[in-house]
Amino acid sequence: MTTQIRVDREKCSGHARCFAAEPDLFPIDESGFVTVDVADVPAGQEHRAKAGALACPEGAITIVEPAETDLG
Ligand code: F3S
Repeated sequence: MTTQIRVDREKCSGHARCFAAEPDLFPIDESGFVTVDVADVPAGQEHRAKAGALACPEGAITIVEPAETDLG
């Protein structure tokens, strides 16, 4: 399994700080809202995904490790 980015789009308020930190992993729309729901993190990019998640002041981004995704 792969580490995943999961975004609670209801919590996203369009701060775009995730995009500012890691634009490749957190694309945004023209209003600044992240457009990711669930995405696999490319191998070796896990630290970048976590940095993007930490940048969000709304706590909208969760990084799910492989052991957790195995549990469904
Ligand atoms: Fe939204 Fe947080 Fe990014 S509010 S645009 S998920 S920094």
